[in-house]
Amino acid sequence: MSEMPLRVELSPLTLAEQEEFCSLTTASVGLHMPWMQLPLTAGDFTAWMRRFDDGVNRGFLIRERETGVAAGMVNINSIIRGRYQGASLGYAAFAPSAGRGYLTEGLTLALRHAFEDLRLHRLEANIQPANTASLALVRRLGFRYEGLSPAYLFIDGAWRDHERWAITAPSPWTPDPSLPKV
Ligand SMILES: CC(C)(COP(=O)(O)OP(=O)(O)OC[C@H]1O[C@@H](n2cnc3c(N)ncnc32)[C@H](O)[C@@H]1OP(=O)(O)O)[C@@H](O)C(=O)NCCC(=O)NCCS
Repeated sequence: MSEMPLRVELSPLTLAEQEEFCSLTTASVGLHMPWMQLPLTAGDFTAWMRRFDDGVNRGFLIRERETGVAAGMVNINSIIRGRYQGASLGYAAFAPSAGRGYLTEGLTLALRHAFEDLRLHRLEANIQPANTASLALVRRLGFRYEGLSPAYLFIDGAWRDHERWAITAPSPWTPDPSLPKV
């Protein structure tokens, strides 16, 4: 992972950011379809935010440091401990800031947070084979292709095949205390 100074920072997504989030997702429907459906209305946002209540899913905005503008979002989803110590990533750029490398930098920070603070061992990204921008993003970040999962996620009204891409913690790595000793 790059040690270059980054132009973005991560901040936990909060209920107070509803208007900003929904106006950016609304502006980004053309970019997100058919790959990703994010809440567009206040009601959907409030309901969607409940997924972060118990810590199993964590949600962040990727903000440009200089301006504070939200360039995108990243979720660390389905955190499982025990002998797995893994999670899966969900992410999207917001249209006004897409194609400028902010998501690459934001995901670099999400990987650092996951491996160093949450002490996860494995992160997955599950991507439809035609989603070339997302495939390019995970390749840049050093994920490896592990295989095709048929009918993996229900997206845009159908069960879609997904490529499974993953990255494991760099060494040295300090395990979370919940990892069994043997
Ligand atoms: C997938 C997605 C998040 C990628 O976002 P992105 O804006 O392309 O990603 P980045 O911010 O890293 O930008 C990379 C692009 O910026 C360009 N770029 C410009 N300046 C750059 C810089 N300083 N550093 C790195 N890249 C830069 C890169 O060349 C690249 O463009 P290219 O693909 O034409 O070569 C976005 O397409 C998206 O939101 N898609 C819909 C949602 C989605 O598919 N989510 C994932 C589901 S699995």
